[in-house]
Amino acid sequence: MSDAVTLATLRRMKAEQKPIVSLTAYDYSMAQAVDAAGVDVVLVGDSLGMVMQGHDSTVPVSLEEMTYHTACVARGLKRAYLMADLPFLSDFDAKTAIHSAAMLMKEGGADMVKIEASAEQAPIVEAMVRAGIPVCAHFGLRPQRVGQLGGYRVQGRGEAAAEQVLTDARALEAAGADMLLVECLAASVASQVRAEVSVPLIGIGAGVDCDGQILVIQDILGLTPGRPPSFSHDFLADTGSIAGALEAYVSAVRGQSFPSDAHRFE
Ligand code: KIV
Repeated sequence: MSDAVTLATLRRMKAEQKPIVSLTAYDYSMAQAVDAAGVDVVLVGDSLGMVMQGHDSTVPVSLEEMTYHTACVARGLKRAYLMADLPFLSDFDAKTAIHSAAMLMKEGGADMVKIEASAEQAPIVEAMVRAGIPVCAHFGLRPQRVGQLGGYRVQGRGEAAAEQVLTDARALEAAGADMLLVECLAASVASQVRAEVSVPLIGIGAGVDCDGQILVIQDILGLTPGRPPSFSHDFLADTGSIAGALEAYVSAVRGQSFPSDAHRFE
């Protein structure tokens, strides 16, 4: 029997409280290295617009570019589960989202598609799930909405904002999302989401009390120009090699030493 990671593996890991390790990758050779290090879920994120293409947001990334990078990464993976992002406005209604997801899965080889969504987009998630698409719903901070949000800010602060996040989580799970991902979220709110939902919850800048963690690979390899996000950590500086950094990240997430209190928001 293959030991390839599937949705069943991820559900079992949640049930057994074994932290899920996730990381971005955008090309074949990095995908091979990440896979060999034991990362469970590889994300081809639309963050590639910033870290690979040099844009100042994820907004310019096209579906064709996402599909190209997803196919490159797919060729480098043996074990990890492959998730790919729906880029800005490739999901503005259910029909468009299904068409876009089909391209990421059929041409790119993605196992699962991630959509930035709140409760408002639950009907789109529901239609995708009905069409047979494994869906991860990404909420809290939604980088594609950074123009509307007025910057990259911590989400879920204050009673009303926390309640809104919980409403989003309930609606997206009820719509059939197979996995949830929260970004830049007050850690106590992430913890409440985790306790309420039955699907795996992956966090980035959301504290240790999630079912798994994800980071952008450039951040853990110290390649991010300027000041790296405060919720991230440069594992290459600790270890001196790419393979060492990947292994250190995997073991820190598994052992729950990352994220530490220094990486959490309240
Ligand atoms: O695009 C991306 O890399 C992401 C992660 C930050 C979760 O969505």
